[in-house]
Amino acid sequence: MRHELYAAQPMFKYVNEDFRYCCTADKKPGKVAIKINPLEWTIWGRLSGSVFFKEWSDTIHYRGGGAMKVLNFGSLNIDYVYSVDHICRRGETISSKELNIYSGGKGLNQSVALGKAGIRPYHAGKIGNEGMFLLDVLREADVDVSNVRISDKDSSGNAIIQNEADGDNCIILYGGANRNITLEDIEEVLMKFGEGDILVCQNEISHVEELIHKAHEKGMSVFLNPSPMDEVMINLDFKEVDYIILNEIEAGQLTELNTEDGDMLIDALQKRFPGIRIVLTLGSKGSIYADSEKKVRHPIFPVHAVDTTAAGDTFLGYFIANIAMKKTPEEALRIASMASAIAVTKSGAAPSIPAKEQVMDELVKKT
Ligand SMILES: Nc1ncnc2c1ncn2[C@@H]1O[C@H](COP(=O)(O)OP(=O)(O)O)[C@@H](O)[C@H]1O
Ligand SMILES: [Mg+2]
Repeated sequence: MRHELYAAQPMFKYVNEDFRYCCTADKKPGKVAIKINPLEWTIWGRLSGSVFFKEWSDTIHYRGGGAMKVLNFGSLNIDYVYSVDHICRRGETISSKELNIYSGGKGLNQSVALGKAGIRPYHAGKIGNEGMFLLDVLREADVDVSNVRISDKDSSGNAIIQNEADGDNCIILYGGANRNITLEDIEEVLMKFGEGDILVCQNEISHVEELIHKAHEKGMSVFLNPSPMDEVMINLDFKEVDYIILNEIEAGQLTELNTEDGDMLIDALQKRFPGIRIVLTLGSKGSIYADSEKKVRHPIFPVHAVDTTAAGDTFLGYFIANIAMKKTPEEALRIASMASAIAVTKSGAAPSIPAKEQVMDELVKKT
């Protein structure tokens, strides 16, 4: 049995960092909880007046009971993939032999990765009525979807993808509901989060600058994936961003450097955004973490790559989840590298993102 207890957060009183008791609103003593990990607390006993009753009840996990919460405010898409003999030309009508419908959007993929990495993230975003299956994809990955709005006026964000037999494709992306997220929507969601919580975001929704600004003002840590790169990202105030997570192409665009050299990109990013923590992924060349004190690299785990879709999203989700669980950047890079290596051995986006158990099993084999 699992209880969501974040609403009771103000009732918690610190005893020390790993041990706290909560009282009911009328200040009567209540239950004593101990920390299992940064995100989970378990009831350990009960206080009645000054008498302490010890009662192990490890079946009740208090998730987020005053502990850090991870909110991903991001895009949710439906991908319509048409198999065609050739990509449609100007003025031409062609027919498709096959249509496959998948979940997509960087926001959704990253939430699936965060969820599979084991932290029960909160996804916020907006869909139209035809996008309800996207919620099932998130729920299945243990993502809280209570902050996803369903709009009667909007279509879900979607992509129309033509796939040629020889592997070339062409894509029309329609932002839909993702681009109709209002300042009120943002305000309403952020009300439930506060100091010490984490905001994860990308650049596929409206008002991302305001989202970052408001989250930063509340004392949340901001983890930004500046993708897709455009003027909004180029002009953003990165002083409000704590971690920037990006690939070599985005890093090149942000720094106006035409190179795939990881070290040069890190130097240029550090110069442009002093003090920011950087996670740079370099495809088959691995990844680098850098902050003002240290720089850590991790090579890839070599695998037979089948489809690299969502490699970056898997990496990001696993990295952030492990930072949220207080792992070091070195450990987080290692776990994220394994998770994304497994992801590229399978085709598809969300379905290719592995569960934590598989990632940990594979890592044990490497030690
Ligand atoms: N061929 C591969 N084999 C193993 N791991 C890979 C491979 N391609 C990518 N990865 C892992 O996924 C991470 C993210 O991939 P990358 O291509 O940099 O992201 P994006 O999808 O954003 O372009 C890499 O840093 C690496 O750890
Ligand atoms: Mg890449």
